[in-house]
Amino acid sequence: MTFTDFKTYFQANQNRYADLAWDDPHQLSPTELRAVRASLQTFQRGESSEGHYLYARAKQLGDPEYTAAMRLFIKEEQTHAAVLGRFLGQQGIARLKGHWLDGIFRGLRRVLGLEHTLRVLLVAEVVAAVYYRALLNATYSGLLQQICRRILLDEEMHLNFQCFTLRHLSAGRGGVGRWLHRHVYRGLMVGATLLVYASSRPTLRAGGYGFVSFCAALAAEYTRTEQMQRPGGLIAVRCGQAAAPVAPTPAGAWQWPQQGLRAAQ
Ligand SMILES: [Fe+2]
Ligand SMILES: [Fe+2]
Repeated sequence: MTFTDFKTYFQANQNRYADLAWDDPHQLSPTELRAVRASLQTFQRGESSEGHYLYARAKQLGDPEYTAAMRLFIKEEQTHAAVLGRFLGQQGIARLKGHWLDGIFRGLRRVLGLEHTLRVLLVAEVVAAVYYRALLNATYSGLLQQICRRILLDEEMHLNFQCFTLRHLSAGRGGVGRWLHRHVYRGLMVGATLLVYASSRPTLRAGGYGFVSFCAALAAEYTRTEQMQRPGGLIAVRCGQAAAPVAPTPAGAWQWPQQGLRAAQ
C-alpha cells in the first residue's frame, strides 16, 4: 500500500454524502435533544478544522502523493463538519464558534512536528470512532443514524491512513524511543478519554456506554491502532466484528459490514 492508494481512495470517496435523506421529517425529541445536543455541537466544531497547520506539516514530508492524500483527508473531515452542521441547522441547534475540548486538541496539534501532530490527531480519530457509535445508538433519527454510519466508515480509513503514515515516520526508532513514544501518547489517550467522557456523558450513556465500557472501547480501539503501527502489522479496516452495540439499541442498529472494505499490508 502507498500514499497514492490513499489518495485514490479519498478521491473515490468524495461523494458519499450526496444521497443523505435530508427530507427525513424526524425532529429530535426533548429526551434525544438532552442526550445528543451538546456533544453534537462539540463534535461538529471538532470536525471543522481548516487543517492549515496539518497541511503545512504534511508538505514538509516532501511526498506529493502524501500531500494530495492529506488535502483530500482534510476535505473529508470538513465534509463531516458540513453535514453535521446542516443537521444541527435542520434541528434548530446553533453551531459553536469554539469549545474548550476542541481548543485543547487544536493547541496540542500545533506544537512539535508532523509525527506529533498525527499522534494527537490519531487520539481524536479513536475518540470519534467510538463516539459516533454511541451517537448512532442514542438517536431515533434515521438521518442522524445514516450520517453516523457514513462517518464511521470514513473514520475507519482515517485510522488506517494515520497509522500507515506513523509507521513510516517512526521506522528505525530504537527500543527506548519507541517505548517512550508509546507511553507518552497512551497518557494522552487516557487524558482524552476522561475529558471526552466528562463532556459527552449524556450521549455516551444514551448510546449504551458507561464509564467503564467507554474506557474499554477506546482502549481496544487505540490498541488496534498501535498494532497497525508495528512493523509488518496488518493495516486493515474492521469488518464483521461485534464492535457496535454494548447495550440494547434501537431497532436496526448498525453492525460493521461483514465484508472487508479494504485491507493492506
Ligand atoms: Fe471526522
Ligand atoms: Fe477522522
